[in-house]
Amino acid sequence: MKSLLLQKSIEAGCLKVKAPSNIALVKYWGKKGHQLPCNPSVSFTLSEAFTETDINWEFENPTPKEEVDIHFHFGGDHSEKFAERVRRYFNSLIDTHPFLGQLKLSIRTRNSFPHSAGIASSASAMASLGLAICAMERKFFKTLKSDEEFYRKASYLAREGSGSAARSVYGGLVSWGQYENDLSSDEFATPVSNIHSVFEDYRDSILIVDSKPKSVSSSEGHKIMNVSPYSHVRFELARQRVGDLISVMQKGDLERFIAIVENEALELHGMMLTSNYMLLKPNTLALIEELRAFRKESGVPACFTLDAGPNLHLLYPSAYAQKVKNFIDQVKPHYESFLHDHVGTGPQIHD
Ligand code: PMV
Repeated sequence: MKSLLLQKSIEAGCLKVKAPSNIALVKYWGKKGHQLPCNPSVSFTLSEAFTETDINWEFENPTPKEEVDIHFHFGGDHSEKFAERVRRYFNSLIDTHPFLGQLKLSIRTRNSFPHSAGIASSASAMASLGLAICAMERKFFKTLKSDEEFYRKASYLAREGSGSAARSVYGGLVSWGQYENDLSSDEFATPVSNIHSVFEDYRDSILIVDSKPKSVSSSEGHKIMNVSPYSHVRFELARQRVGDLISVMQKGDLERFIAIVENEALELHGMMLTSNYMLLKPNTLALIEELRAFRKESGVPACFTLDAGPNLHLLYPSAYAQKVKNFIDQVKPHYESFLHDHVGTGPQIHD
């Protein structure tokens, strides 16, 4: 492997990355080793929920420092706590990417969505950093020439920052973690191809039931799975579900898609309930009942998924956008606010 140490001073420069968040359809819940998933997962990349990161660099020392020299400028909700997490992340990469310890970095980052939206900001933020580090490596050392190599490494690095971020370096449908597909890996995510056209412009309308911070962090949630008596069954079911869901999405079978996605969302919360954590709110359940009644009466193939919180993600083909808007209006008493998003094409890099 080429040494990633700069042999001489380089000119100051900058690059910009815009990386999207994602919503898992089959959830990553439980980790092992160094940020490796106990089960595979699959997600839709979002479009309107993203992090924009600008990195400026100046050459500082020929010998890498032990700690990366970073100055932060935050827009929106990012905080000192986030800065500390990013600092630790960069420091952990100095051994393999010594150029990071030779530079003075200035990082400006902004999320397009409020923290209260319950959308994982760590996925888009860490994906933007993984992509930015790869873009710097490519620029300085002329490595990562093919897109496959570039995005695979970006996914690997993003994963080291936050597991779900591994999936945010690609657009469309993305899987991460080993299942019965030879290309799949626990180390990095891969885009899923040959998806039926009905899923191409899929919508995700997020009904924010409770905008307060989550009572259980995802790190705590992953730990629950180390001690849950149900974890082995859960990991096996999730593995089968990833394969089933992808094949259903390749066929365009909306009915099976709905059954698998809703089952999966409830199972994630089932895992928490059996460990004495209750993240659902009465209004989450009310909305699920309303949605199921609406689907039965209208025939509109809208379904829900949930992240590790009370907010409902409504997933539906774009052709039903107006009908779902009317439904969202009807169920107003059960949520605080909403955001419309849709499946996106993936990150953008300007260097
Ligand atoms: O990436 P983390 O460690 O924040 O974990 C994310 C876990 C879920 O959002 C609940 C599921 C997923 O696969 O995104």
